[in-house]
This record gives sequence, C-alpha cells and structure tokens, in this order.
Amino acid sequence: MPAESGIAEAAAVLRAGGLVAFPTETVYGLGANALDARAAARIFQAKARPSFDPLITHLADAADLEKLVGAVPAAVAALAWRFWPGPLTLIVDRPAVIPPIVTSGLDTMAVRVPDEPSARALVRAAGVPVAAPSANRFGQLSPTRAEHVVSGLGAAVDVVLDGGATRCGIESTIVDARGPQPVVLRLGALALEELVAAAGPVSVRPGSSGQPVAPGTLAAHYAPRTPLRLVSGAEPAPGGGERRGFLAFRAAPAAGYAVVEVLSPGGDVTEAAARLFDALHRLDAAGVTEIHAEAVPEEGVGRAVNDRLRRAAATWNAAG
Ligand code: TXA
Ligand code: MG
Repeated sequence: MPAESGIAEAAAVLRAGGLVAFPTETVYGLGANALDARAAARIFQAKARPSFDPLITHLADAADLEKLVGAVPAAVAALAWRFWPGPLTLIVDRPAVIPPIVTSGLDTMAVRVPDEPSARALVRAAGVPVAAPSANRFGQLSPTRAEHVVSGLGAAVDVVLDGGATRCGIESTIVDARGPQPVVLRLGALALEELVAAAGPVSVRPGSSGQPVAPGTLAAHYAPRTPLRLVSGAEPAPGGGERRGFLAFRAAPAAGYAVVEVLSPGGDVTEAAARLFDALHRLDAAGVTEIHAEAVPEEGVGRAVNDRLRRAAATWNAAG
C-alpha cells in the first residue's frame, strides 16, 4: 500500500486539477477531480480516449452516493450496500455538479466505491469524487501494476501511486439496475453468479457481437500490441522459425511455442482473471509475432476473462 504521505500529496494534486494513477482492486485507474471539467479533459488527452467514452466516478464510501446524486432507485441502493466497496459499477442519474465531459454528455453516470484501502483513502483525502478510467492508452491492455502505467502513459501522469499487483486483475462489472431487471453492461470482476444471487435474474448486454451499451465496450478492445488469436488448443509450429506465444489456462502446450504463460495451474478462473493482463503484458514484451490464447471455463469471473480475450482477438480480426 502506498505511504500515507504519498496519498496526502496525491490528493493535493487531484484537488489542484492534476492526474493521479492509483491502484484499485481491479486495475489501476487514472484519476482526476470529477467536479473539474478541465481536469477530466486531461484524462481523455492522456489516454488518447475518444470523447464518447464516459468515465467512472469513484467514491470513498457507499454513504457518499446519495450525498452526491440524491435519492437513487431502491434496486441501485440495494446493490451498492451489498457490494460496495467492491468491483461493481452502478449507473445513476448524473447530478448537475458533475460536468458533462465526465459522462461524455450522457444524463447518466457510472459510479463505484473501490475495495482498495489506499484508493478510498485517496478519494477521501481529496474530498471530491474522482473520475478514473483504467490507466492505459485507449484500446490497450489495462494496467495491473504501477510499471504498466508508467510504461503506457509515462509523463502524461502527474503522480503514480504504487500498490503492487492488483487483486482482481480485471475491470469492474457494470450494471444498470434502474429498470425492472438489472442489465449487465460489462462483464467484470464481480461474478455474474454473485450478482444473480443478490439481485435475481439479470440480462447481459452486449453479446460479443451486439451493439455496445457501455460506450467503451467496443467489440475491439483490451488488445496487446502483438496480434492475438483465440485457439482451442496448441497448433503445430509454423515453418520459418517464427516465435509464437501461448496464453494457457491450466497447462502449457507440449511444444511449438517460444513463450508460454499459464494463468492458473490449479484451474481457478478467479486466479486466471487476476493474472490475465499481467500475462498479456509479458507476452507483448517477449518479442513474439503472434499470441495464441485459449478460453477459460465460462463460469464466474471466467466469463469476463473470455470477454476480454474475444475483444483482444477482435482488434486483430478487424485489422485484417
Ligand atoms: O474496474 C474498473 O471499473 C476500472 C477502475 C479504475 O475503477 N475502471 C475502468 O474504467 O475500467 P474504463 O474507463 O476503462 O471503463 C469504463 C467503462 C466504459 O466502458 C464506459 O463506456 C462505461 O464504463 N461507462 C461509463 N459511464 C457510463 C454510463 N453512464 N453508461 C454506460 N456505461 C458507462
Ligand atoms: Mg479501460
């Protein structure tokens, strides 16, 4: 956990309109004062993020939600109290104090309380809600370590708080619970099964081929720089001494790959999620010409892992 003095300084940077990258339990966020339109604009600039992709606002405590936005629908409040702090992002009406740039002009706002003591301490010390997308350049791999933030965004960030590797390793689950039945807008670190146990039946949008509902969940996203392909098992080595990488769930393929990352030898999808982006960052740095990835079991957080892998692969399909 970052030192307390570091948190106080970082909070001052936020209040002054600066950008602070900080660890959450999911991935590192790139934070700015959510009440300050100019500070929020710097996030879009630093990430080269299109202005149509709204930010998530972070609060220190569940009790801060109604202070910021007023009364929320009972189902939204129930999920907040059940899962915050935690990897669940909820959709609420945007209050007037939040400038439209934060929500890309939407009348709704995404909000969560991260389950990471230093993140909550930072937001509390700043004394303002903190808008923070993942701290990576748009479309690229999310950062699960401070080093990923530094290598991806570098000088564009005023302060990077280093809290080591993040616990979940994959972004929050985004849910719109304002209607009669909750709608999952992005699969994430809160497992669908847990959500259903608490909220009853939910619908999931978008399908991997459907229209994105959370504007940032484009079909192509979360991509390494190296072309990535989903495979159902190891493929024979190509001729020509090509170096390929393999992202495996439980076990390395017998042969044919120069670099192999195994996500969870014990076959645990939660562990696989925690290691996914870190493994992809390493494969990306390994000098391979192509990454082959196998899907993990479609259960629990494994759904979110497969979702990220499909989007990473789609980036390269789209590229031809
Ligand atoms: O775990 C996380 O959620 C991390 C940490 C830093 O909190 N943040 C994160 O932010 O993943 P980002 O910007 O990479 O993804 C935010 C997603 C985008 O897909 C965006 O479109 C969606 O949230 N979003 C934001 N506001 C929304 C809104 N009002 N309605 C629907 N989707 C929204
Ligand atoms: Mg992101």
